[in-house]
Amino acid sequence: MKINPTFSQLTPSYLFAEIANRVAAYKKANPGKKVISLGIGDVTRPLIKPAVDALIKASGEMGTAEGFRGYGPEQGYEFLRAALVKYYAGRGVTLATDEVFISDGAKSDLGNFLDIFPRGITALIPDPVYPAYVDGNIMSGNKIVYMDATPENGFLPMPEDVEGRADVIYLCSPNNPTGAAYTFEQLAVWVDYALKTGALIIYDAAYERFIQDEDCPHTVFSVPGARGCAVEICSFSKMAGFTGLRCGWTVVPHELQANSVNAAWLRRQCVKFNGVPYIVQRAAEAALTPEGLAAADKNIEYYRINARVIGAALDSMGIRYYGGKNSPYIWMQCGMPSWEYFDKLLNNAQIVGTPGAGFGKNGEGFFRLTAFGGAGNTVEAAQRLLKLK
Ligand code: MLT
Repeated sequence: MKINPTFSQLTPSYLFAEIANRVAAYKKANPGKKVISLGIGDVTRPLIKPAVDALIKASGEMGTAEGFRGYGPEQGYEFLRAALVKYYAGRGVTLATDEVFISDGAKSDLGNFLDIFPRGITALIPDPVYPAYVDGNIMSGNKIVYMDATPENGFLPMPEDVEGRADVIYLCSPNNPTGAAYTFEQLAVWVDYALKTGALIIYDAAYERFIQDEDCPHTVFSVPGARGCAVEICSFSKMAGFTGLRCGWTVVPHELQANSVNAAWLRRQCVKFNGVPYIVQRAAEAALTPEGLAAADKNIEYYRINARVIGAALDSMGIRYYGGKNSPYIWMQCGMPSWEYFDKLLNNAQIVGTPGAGFGKNGEGFFRLTAFGGAGNTVEAAQRLLKLK
């Protein structure tokens, strides 16, 4: 049996799997060394109490005849979709519950959404970028047109940077890996462009809870017209520490092709997805209560302090960096090929980061550090960085 030939265009391993392999090899060869990971953007704070309580309560229900649930609705339980509609209402955005689809995380839907389009469409993707967009489009046999994200455009490419027409446009704000965030004004230009060209914006808002600047929207649907040209993919992972629980959501407005996109996505999900566990959806619902959001925001503040610790170390080393304000990612200039810097940091300071080249050609010469580490480890990593100078 032959493998889909598009797989031959993929890099041999997924970026974060490659890093994990290299780190595992280093640890095996250096068993006494304490390695600090500021690589993959995985959270480290314990799960917030309202979510834990909800998990326990829901698990208890599952052990009773009255409370037991089997397969849930493919689109997600109504209670969680209603809680998300309320969350968006708090941002001034009106949604219907059947426009919200519960997922097992943003990464899945960012690739899976392509299932509803023909193979071979053109995807416009920023460079550097979260590698799952690129790999997902390669697997689907799509044509990729890159738009350059560079210090010159603040890592926020605009339609004027684009040549040709695309069917789908991936935007991620706040951006992974650069930490840059689009303003309302900039997103309005993208919405206008998508409406004019008939393209669909696939908007990744996984880091929205980190936004601090008031002129940067938390959701694309704050921009007038976006309901006619965008889907939004988001996650409880970074917002409420659900990387190990798995829960996210996708908003598919009815306006898109007179509801055909929403209907096609529901049809796709019914065939290929059996929903997120009931207990996890109850935990997600709890994360959206006032107590849940307050607890989640406390963790976000904890990570923001980490970002400042890393930023201060880089400042005192005279290293130029971006991000870290509206995002948990710090995008630093590393002054050498980024995989070389990866090796230097791992071998000489036992710090794991992510080489910019792993995010695209424009990532070369940059390196990504995350603020998701433990506070003690982050301080120690900053001290090690300073010694490395
Ligand atoms: C990252 O490090 O870029 C992300 O944590 C990966 C992910 O969310 O899948």
